[in-house]
Amino acid sequence: MRTQVGIVGAGPAGLLLAQLLQLQGVQSVVLEARDRDYVQRRVRAGVLEHGTVETFREAGVGVRMDAEGLAHDGTILRFGLQSHRIDFRELTGRSIVVYGQQEVVKDLIAARLDVGGELLFEVADVTLHDLDTARPRIDFVHEGVARSVECDFVIGADGFHGVSRGYLAGARTYERSYPFAWLGILAEAPPSSHELIYARHRNGFALHSMRSPTITRMYLQVRADEDISGWPDDRIWAELHTRLADDAGFTLTEGTLLDKGITPMRSFVCDRMQQGRLFIAGDAAHIVLPTGAKGMNLAVADVRLLSRALGGYYADHRTDLLDGYTELALRRVWRATHFSWWMTAMLHVSPHDDAFGDQLSLAQLDYVASSRAMATSLAENYTGLPYPKGWSY
Ligand code: FAD
Ligand code: PHB
Repeated sequence: MRTQVGIVGAGPAGLLLAQLLQLQGVQSVVLEARDRDYVQRRVRAGVLEHGTVETFREAGVGVRMDAEGLAHDGTILRFGLQSHRIDFRELTGRSIVVYGQQEVVKDLIAARLDVGGELLFEVADVTLHDLDTARPRIDFVHEGVARSVECDFVIGADGFHGVSRGYLAGARTYERSYPFAWLGILAEAPPSSHELIYARHRNGFALHSMRSPTITRMYLQVRADEDISGWPDDRIWAELHTRLADDAGFTLTEGTLLDKGITPMRSFVCDRMQQGRLFIAGDAAHIVLPTGAKGMNLAVADVRLLSRALGGYYADHRTDLLDGYTELALRRVWRATHFSWWMTAMLHVSPHDDAFGDQLSLAQLDYVASSRAMATSLAENYTGLPYPKGWSY
């Protein structure tokens, strides 16, 4: 096979890039390790920043998101049994949309197949070759047959556990792990709040989110080494009731659990996102703590830069945008990494913290709840900082 851009990974990053390139008349091939059903069912992110929503619309994949996504103008911080609303719209003029990542992936796959774009599922043994030449190549196995795709550029959009990052020689990585994890559930129950609730309780953090008017998504802070078998449904509900309680009579509606799992808390940044003709994007290059709801949004931001840079290369033989990709992308990555760390520190109860640390977190929450300046800072980060000027694709 021969194409212009070879993309490894059909998550939000890889699929969106293929779509944005298609709109600019640039051909690509997308290679995905899993099957279609698996990638469309994987329950992950839910919050789309303002700019992500606009990007999906511009990319022509916003129709179902606009019909079924839930627009939120604010969020609730809950601590000391009290609720404090952060009004995104009033503070920043922006809002967010709650729309499941698996729905985004379904829309992107449908758009890809609609235009007859190449998208191969269940590929194995992906290896990259000749990345420092003008004719890089991806080797892989599909349906038991060894195959190759020759391209001008290779994009590693294969997530944290993918192979692409390993081809960046001498990259420095920054990492931090945390002494807790998130236990996430998806329940067949109408949301108990119109907006997300980020709650800090002395037992730990809890988050009330949602996917639709009939499906609730919630998370509990648990120990880093926690085994899901120690959390039967009754225990999960009891802990959610306790941690989400307020003094205004909040009631949590229960329902059948459709999914439950534990996600480790990890921050990771790779300080190089390119080498020769290889560029990496999304979780392949960075992982942010989920408390800031930034992971998928960063993947989208990377891909906007890349699609513009590749478009500039094909339309005008420009290489300056490609050359500047890592530096520009990492500015946003570190901002989101800091914001996610800050939200996490303020809302979680660390087993390493003493009573002093607890008081610091509460003082910070109180400051956000009572200061317009701090609330605005939270709102502007949460709804998403503007993209660099001139970098729409
Ligand atoms: P991925 O979605 O990981 O896609 C990579 C793809 O590459 C996968 O389909 C994988 O199967 C494939 N692949 C891997 N290796 C290979 C290979 N060797 N060959 C071929 N294909 C390969 N983000 C938010 O923005 N907001 C949120 O609210 C939010 N909540 C989250 C909650 C949880 C519980 C979790 C786990 C994550 C959350 N995130 C959130 C993060 C978000 O889900 C990720 O940042 C996002 O999936 C990144 O997209 P990606 O395309 O870079 O990577
Ligand atoms: C989600 O709905 O899955 C979700 C929402 C907000 C977060 C993380 C996850 O901060």
